[in-house]
Amino acid sequence: MTTTTHPAAGSGRTRAAKISVQEVRKTFALRNEEFVALERVSLDIADNEFVTVVGPSGCGKSTLMNILAGLEEPTSGHALVDGAEVSGPGPERGVIFQQYALFPWLTVRKNIEFGLKVAGLGRAERRERAEHFIRLVGLEQFAGALPKMLSGGMKQRCAIARAYAVNPSILLMDEPFGALDALTRVNLQEQLLETWSREKRTVLFITHDVDEAVFLANRVVVMAARPGRVYDVVDVDLPYPRTEEMRLSGEFAALRNRVWHSVYHQSPASERP
Ligand SMILES: Nc1ncnc2c1ncn2[C@@H]1O[C@H](COP(=O)(O)OP(=O)(O)O)[C@@H](O)[C@H]1O
Ligand SMILES: [Mg+2]
Repeated sequence: MTTTTHPAAGSGRTRAAKISVQEVRKTFALRNEEFVALERVSLDIADNEFVTVVGPSGCGKSTLMNILAGLEEPTSGHALVDGAEVSGPGPERGVIFQQYALFPWLTVRKNIEFGLKVAGLGRAERRERAEHFIRLVGLEQFAGALPKMLSGGMKQRCAIARAYAVNPSILLMDEPFGALDALTRVNLQEQLLETWSREKRTVLFITHDVDEAVFLANRVVVMAARPGRVYDVVDVDLPYPRTEEMRLSGEFAALRNRVWHSVYHQSPASERP
């Protein structure tokens, strides 16, 4: 296990990064004052890497993700994907929000097919791809159902299937399992890792759950608030596939404690070296 505590952790790598966040600052106007949501955030994510981001509420996790999704612009600094500045949403980036963003008037199958239609796939291919991902997330029984007939967990599985189906090389996930019960959550974590190991993807996964952050990641980025910044980066040197046994291991516990400590015992920005 190696760790670093540096505001620009992850930068300075030699390998070309799939995602590169460079000295990003983001401010919002708040009652005529400038509120600093992100300060000097730098982070490189390699192709096919799985990075989780954990940190207290309000530390800028969603702001960082929105910048990478192309929904917000940095006030200064750069957000690059495949070496090019992000200038809006793109089909190579699949975004999954905490709130299942499904079309309520479309069935599960049609929700999943929607993005494929936009991408220009023909009817037969759309159907085939949709069925594949419906099976992957275990929604066969509900393919023809409207979102209102689904539980929260099923809606989120549908949102995940929809994002995967478009085959983006990057998945940006903002607390996707946050509203789910513990068992569904563990199932979806395992499904996500299975898909990730089978089909090449670069994943940035935001969570406030330290266990989840460690279980999934190659690397855990810990953020701190006021101002939002990278506080710590913890490498998770556990092999994949990750198993339930691993979750109970001493090695896992040590990593979790390390991340937990970083999240909950953060020193104020002024105390940083
Ligand atoms: N559009 C906005 N206008 C003003 N303040 C914002 C806006 N978006 C986020 N913020 C503020 O920026 C900070 C970081 O927000 P956010 O990225 O949502 O944090 P997190 O996802 O880590 O909980 C919060 O204090 C939030 O109130
Ligand atoms: Mg958030």
